[in-house]
Amino acid sequence: MSEIAEVKINGQTYELPIITGSEDEKGIDITKLRSLSGAVTLDSGYKNTGSTKSAVTYLDGENGILRYRGYSIEELAGKASFIEVAYLLINGELPNKSQLADFEANITKHTLIHEDMKRFYEAYPSKAHPMGIVASLLCSLSTFYPDSQNPNRTEEEIELTIYRLLAKLPTISAWAYKNFVGHPVVYPKNNLNYEENFLNMMFSLPAEKYKIDPVVADALNKLLILHADHEQNCSASTVRIVGSSHANLYSSISAGVIALWGPLHGGANQAVIEMLEKIHADGTPLENWIAKAKDKDDPFRLMGFGHRVYKNFDPRAKIIKKAADDVLEKLGIEDPLIEIAKELEQVALNDEYFKARNLYPNVDFYSGIIYKALGIPTEMFTVMFALGRLPGWIAQWKEMIENKEPIGRPRQIYVGENERSYVSLEDR
Ligand code: CMC
Repeated sequence: MSEIAEVKINGQTYELPIITGSEDEKGIDITKLRSLSGAVTLDSGYKNTGSTKSAVTYLDGENGILRYRGYSIEELAGKASFIEVAYLLINGELPNKSQLADFEANITKHTLIHEDMKRFYEAYPSKAHPMGIVASLLCSLSTFYPDSQNPNRTEEEIELTIYRLLAKLPTISAWAYKNFVGHPVVYPKNNLNYEENFLNMMFSLPAEKYKIDPVVADALNKLLILHADHEQNCSASTVRIVGSSHANLYSSISAGVIALWGPLHGGANQAVIEMLEKIHADGTPLENWIAKAKDKDDPFRLMGFGHRVYKNFDPRAKIIKKAADDVLEKLGIEDPLIEIAKELEQVALNDEYFKARNLYPNVDFYSGIIYKALGIPTEMFTVMFALGRLPGWIAQWKEMIENKEPIGRPRQIYVGENERSYVSLEDR
């Protein structure tokens, strides 16, 4: 028997269906509430609102569980390749050998970007933030492939756009980095795998042969997997809502990149390292920084701490913390920032303020330390997040289109002035 919720408004009871997910989570379907009662629901920041039914990622914040299409993040990060995970997220199942080979071949075919796009980089200031460049160039892809703008494109055309996105984002990103450091760009090498090709485009120089360190390529693979999807977060919701207007996929993904850039979302990984560097340079006891983070009059927040949905621990942070230790040890790097990060974590975890609010380190707390060890500059950290998140955004967009979801258009409660008459300029 289907479950029903009862909502009583001014003495009148309305019955609303309860939707149950495959992990037994409940949602009250309020679709008809307004037409029945005239009332809408109010939930700033969508803290308690399910915006869609999704089969991509399952997340249980109370118990620190994260699964892509049913597979645990721990297992995928330990055993799979990023490109396998991308296939899984986008197509719903792990690929067999021939499906994986086809998928990789289709991506490899499209790694070049149009030479005209190369000129865009020249117009940016040398210290332009790579996220700004990446978002703009992703959006620009829609102008190079105008067919993508057709909202009634075929499945094959959509597939081609997906291959192009997966293939070109590493090139666009690595070239944004080259622009940042003022080096000549390096073209994609299609005999390398996804991570190796990216590392080669980032670090190879005309005068020097770049040797890909398997430790670095492995760490990158793990990081990309850990970032690949996170259900209805700010950027995924942005991609879905922009796409729901039938804007093309390139532009929808570009909007996701912009949402990710913010320091409360993916931009936190850059902000964490900058915070740790500041704490290191400052040298004052960590308690002072904790006190600042707790002070409501001080804008300082402990970056890399807290999460909208994880109220126990972030399973990604657990894996990344261990990976950071492994990478630093294998590469023989001693980084004082990791010691500060660990101390800060201990101080915060034992502090009443953080305990009472369930504030734990999130994925961004340790990821920057690994990126730094891999030689990736701070300004590129959020681009790395975007590279990992791309298959998730694509999967979320595809699901939204396949389910024929309506245009995203929330309601509001108007609290402004009531109707009044225009007063001429002289009389004001
Ligand atoms: N430092 C100090 N206090 C904090 C922090 C923090 N990092 N995070 C939350 N709080 C406090 C906040 O002030 C509030 O206190 P009170 O109840 O007294 O007003 C309480 O904890 C609840 O916080 P909130 O801001 O209402 O929670 P939210 O769900 O709206 O925000 C968040 C979640 C991630 C934006 C927030 O925790 C934050 O700003 N963290 C720092 C930025 C960060 O690390 N972001 C990366 C998130 S993980 C990557 C991703 O998936 O995007």
